[in-house]
Amino acid sequence: MSAVLETDTAELRLQAMSEDWLDEVSRVEKRAYTHPWSRGNFADSLRAGYCAQVLLQGPDLMGYYVLMLGAQEAHLLNLSVDPPQQGRGLARLMLDEMLRFAQAQGAQSLWLEVRTSNVRARQIYERYGFKTVGLRRNYYPLAPFKREDAVVMSLPLAAAQP
Ligand SMILES: CC(C)(COP(=O)(O)OP(=O)(O)OC[C@H]1O[C@@H](n2cnc3c(N)ncnc32)[C@H](O)[C@@H]1OP(=O)(O)O)[C@@H](O)C(=O)NCCC(=O)NCCS
Repeated sequence: MSAVLETDTAELRLQAMSEDWLDEVSRVEKRAYTHPWSRGNFADSLRAGYCAQVLLQGPDLMGYYVLMLGAQEAHLLNLSVDPPQQGRGLARLMLDEMLRFAQAQGAQSLWLEVRTSNVRARQIYERYGFKTVGLRRNYYPLAPFKREDAVVMSLPLAAAQP
């Protein structure tokens, strides 16, 4: 998948995440999360053939996502925007693109897990149309000997925004 998207200020583009991007992706990941994916997690995702895209503006990495496609559903494994670039609508833009792609591949729903404490992301997903469909107990590491629940959210793609 490759796309060029216009914003008020400059041209943004999505392109496949290659191995060459993994150092920069890992740097952003560490800035964005208290419990980041490792470089190896991203490398494994590429090897597994997941749909991984980087969002670029000029030479700079703004964000990225990793999507796993199943028979009839897609599972969002990672969606991140570099902290200085957050609040510009970039997550929404990546959601739009991944939904178009997943729909074109025949997926009928998009699933994700999000930390219960990640209120901002949960609100963004809810405004986008995702519904909470469950809870996975102790899904994420939190602190030594402590774990955090995941909220499971789902979006029927027929009802997704264009
Ligand atoms: C969650 C995350 C991906 C959102 O990215 P973003 O680019 O900042 O989000 P957007 O700018 O597209 O904002 C989407 C919506 O949130 C609103 N928003 C933007 N900044 C906001 C803020 N500071 N507080 C609350 N809402 C905000 C936008 O107005 C927009 O609302 P709308 O959809 O009704 O128009 C980003 O904060 C991030 O990478 N966080 C760290 C990693 C993470 O938690 N990922 C999700 C894991 S499941």
